[in-house]
Amino acid sequence: MVHHPKDHKGSWSSVFQNDRPIRLEIGCGKGKFLLELANLHPELNFVGVEKFESVLVRAVEKAEVDPPANLKFLWLDAEELPECFGADEVDLIYLNFSDPWPKSKQKKRRLTHPLFLARYASFLKSSGRIRMKTDNFGLFMDSMVWFVESDWHLETILLDLHAEQHVENVETEFETRFVAMGRSIYYLSAVRPEETHA
Ligand SMILES: C[S@@+](CC[C@H](N)C(=O)[O-])C[C@H]1O[C@@H](n2cnc3c(N)ncnc32)[C@H](O)[C@@H]1O
Repeated sequence: MVHHPKDHKGSWSSVFQNDRPIRLEIGCGKGKFLLELANLHPELNFVGVEKFESVLVRAVEKAEVDPPANLKFLWLDAEELPECFGADEVDLIYLNFSDPWPKSKQKKRRLTHPLFLARYASFLKSSGRIRMKTDNFGLFMDSMVWFVESDWHLETILLDLHAEQHVENVETEFETRFVAMGRSIYYLSAVRPEETHA
């Protein structure tokens, strides 16, 4: 766990002690997805971001058994990420089963709302990507519109991720639950716009 992430803005390579690409999962929950990815990909660095300490504690406990050096966790609201990461510091963001916030008044809290996309663009590399998975069709549809309106390029859209054999997929905790219920998993990959207006 990194306790003062804002102190490391622009210098995450010193935290990891290498220059490997950094990937974030925002809303990492109990951390199963990242723990598995970090072990599969020692050539990459991973940071899990979670706003609820009680949930994050479970992630940290899991990783403590055999902590991969390429995995760190932050107890943080995603709104604060631009204070923690500098321009071009992050390679890729995973948004897995983000809270759907279905009511109109709550939509600004969605992690793909244009306000969040602008925050992410401020620290993603120019070819940086967001990979999103969800079982919620309403969130998926609104997100596609928001990506396009915010000038992101939608490079992949899948309406049934689990029917695709060629996509590497590590299941998250929520995903395992939803798949067991017979739900389709929607997936997209979006590339950051060239101009970020930061
Ligand atoms: C539905 S859970 C999904 C957890 C995990 N990604 C998975 O797929 O199993 C969504 C998680 O996102 C976290 N979250 C929601 N809004 C957040 C925010 N603004 N910043 C950080 N975490 C957030 C929630 O606390 C929750 O743990």
